[in-house]
Amino acid sequence: MGDGILAGNSRVGLWLIGARGSVAATVVAGAAAIRAGMMPATGCVSELPDFRDTGLPNFNDLVFGGHDIVTVPLPKRVEQLAQDGVIPATLLGPIDGALVAAETEIRPGIGALPVGQTLSEAVAPIVADLVSFRRRHRLARVVVVNVASTERPSQISAAHDSLAGLEEAMSDTCPAIPTSSLYAYAAFRAGCSYVDFTPSAGARLPALDEFARVQGLPYAGSDGKTGETLVKSALAPMFAHRALRVRSWTGVNLLGGGDGATLAEPAAAQSKTMSKGRALEAVLGTAVEGAVHIDYVPELGEWKTAWDHISFEGFFGVRMTIQFTWQGCDSALAAPLVLDLARLMARAHETGRVGPQGQLAFFFKDPVGTDEHRLVMQYEALRQWAMLLRSQR
Ligand SMILES: NC(=O)c1ccc[n+]([C@@H]2O[C@H](COP(=O)([O-])OP(=O)(O)OC[C@H]3O[C@@H](n4cnc5c(N)ncnc54)[C@H](O)[C@@H]3O)[C@@H](O)[C@H]2O)c1
Repeated sequence: MGDGILAGNSRVGLWLIGARGSVAATVVAGAAAIRAGMMPATGCVSELPDFRDTGLPNFNDLVFGGHDIVTVPLPKRVEQLAQDGVIPATLLGPIDGALVAAETEIRPGIGALPVGQTLSEAVAPIVADLVSFRRRHRLARVVVVNVASTERPSQISAAHDSLAGLEEAMSDTCPAIPTSSLYAYAAFRAGCSYVDFTPSAGARLPALDEFARVQGLPYAGSDGKTGETLVKSALAPMFAHRALRVRSWTGVNLLGGGDGATLAEPAAAQSKTMSKGRALEAVLGTAVEGAVHIDYVPELGEWKTAWDHISFEGFFGVRMTIQFTWQGCDSALAAPLVLDLARLMARAHETGRVGPQGQLAFFFKDPVGTDEHRLVMQYEALRQWAMLLRSQR
């Protein structure tokens, strides 16, 4: 879609679905603090030497906007995060202008599923918001990143297998398409790339994969890898390479915040435990006993504790265990990755990449476009792509 896309312009839009949530607010606040020189870009993978001279947009080139279904203004949301100890209170004054600017670009999202509308009608306001954002700010590209509340697992039906089937199903009175997929469809309609930072269905419906390819657009996902699964994808290959047999792997996650409240609902938690569970079997080559548990503990606020217990055996079948405890501030871990993904996806789009972006698997619990879950191998794939990008400048 050439409409409104300006050649030679390096400014890139980062459009956040769930723009008033903890992750989104930390993204906008973090980028503003980096731009103001008040904070180093700690945690931003794209700032590592491997990504130098690869043509990524600068933090200064990013313009923020998004959709949400709540009305708490972004500066207020950031104030809450400061009270919770995520964002230093001393930053609030200096970054206020950037927060207000982003707030003016937040539009009402799709809450309940629209009933009795065609697919085009349902997404028309979302597409219009994206196109208008790109035009008004004279942006070269817009990357849409879904950081909205996790949805329950979708009943994927035959209607989702092809674009024609999807269009037809949407003209029924009760469309069975997840909201995250409506956003992904709208992003592709508007000529934007799409990143699913949540375990929701998003762009993963076969019909949307087809649509992304028709539109010549890249997409990536799913579910940002920020804590327990990050450690898992680093640790599990150690057992595999050392030929030690993992007998069981159990994870207990305690979390507060908006994400914790959403995941207190068993169906939404199922989306998360499914995406958290995929890496182990893929890396170890066999199903392993043990489950992933998620408990909502409001008192923990923005903090999360994960405790993993792994039992394994060596020579003579001698049994041993390893346990680790991860205590993280989820949004502070997630936000730099969202900024990385925006920069990398903008470059993927610019260099003509289309469909699922497997080279971005490093960032996700349940990556699209590849079955590789080993963290080091994922980083290597990313690094190889960075080398290619450098040669394409
Ligand atoms: N923080 C992390 O480390 C991490 C890691 C991986 C994935 N995620 C995922 O990122 C997402 C955001 O996490 P969070 O902590 O910011 O949650 P949050 O609850 O603070 O924010 C979610 C936001 O999405 C908005 N929203 C809900 N439905 C919407 C819709 N239909 N349209 C537009 N906006 C909608 C909510 O109003 C809220 O502002 C979650 O799905 C979470 O699972 C977070």
